[in-house]
Amino acid sequence: MKMHLIAIAGGMAVFALPSGGEETGRRIFEASKCQQCHTIKALGLGKKEEAVQEKEGDEAEEEENDKVEPPDLSGVGRDHDATWIQKFLTKKIAKESKMGKKKHRKLFAGSSEELEALSEWLAQRREDPPVGKAP
Ligand code: HEC
Repeated sequence: MKMHLIAIAGGMAVFALPSGGEETGRRIFEASKCQQCHTIKALGLGKKEEAVQEKEGDEAEEEENDKVEPPDLSGVGRDHDATWIQKFLTKKIAKESKMGKKKHRKLFAGSSEELEALSEWLAQRREDPPVGKAP
């Protein structure tokens, strides 16, 4: 089927495009199951329920960190630059919060090219999430 070929070509384009590209970052975000926990409401990216089922090997760390709500990432670039995000996603650094210093719950599993593109894309998110949504 044609669909199949398109999916493969899409995967390879992740490496072919320059890092930080709008499409590339978004695709990596969606492919990396970040939406198990995060939304980017400013871009209309919500939580993916079917992704929530799949837990992988993060149970142990979830226990240590499960009091912290995963934030919406619409404005994450106002708080953190791409370098910080890269280090945070690979658990090289922890984040200060009211729960203390915590490393990210999920270790990024992709390549360093993908990590770079994803982090640069996230650092460009500087919007407020749309208002008027019930919590
Ligand atoms: C298992 C749930 C979970 C998954 C999956 C997850 N995160 Fe997170 N993430 C969290 C939680 C919880 C926090 C808040 C941690 C804190 O404040 O200490 C967080 C924080 C962050 C932050 C910092 C936000 C801020 O404003 O400080 C970024 C950036 C981030 N995540 C990106 C990602 C990306 C990109 C992915 C996909 C590769 C991802 N996360 C996958 C749970 C998750």
